[in-house]
Amino acid sequence: MAEFVEAIELDQIPSGQGTTITIANKAIALFNIDGQIYAIDDACPHAGSSLGWGKLEGSMVTCRAHGLKFNLTKGCMANNPEVALTTYPVQVMDGKVMIAIT
Ligand code: FES
Repeated sequence: MAEFVEAIELDQIPSGQGTTITIANKAIALFNIDGQIYAIDDACPHAGSSLGWGKLEGSMVTCRAHGLKFNLTKGCMANNPEVALTTYPVQVMDGKVMIAIT
């Protein structure tokens, strides 16, 4: 079973924004969508650019490198569900965002 580790303070990631962190040598992108936190690998499946600094609109993030869109709530490319993002379980406890890295 994966162990949750502290990633960031919840107030460091306001609603409607994304950010990036590194945990256990992994680059992770975090997004706050209406108070719900999502964690994915910070590497676009197309060519590896950061998605954490992509343009976030609702549940969609647009990669700034070539403009592909990804649905964060579904964990996949917006128009091709077969292109999956690597997602991580998230918990928020005592104002801290906790992520289970496997
Ligand atoms: S690297 Fe993200 S769309 Fe190309």
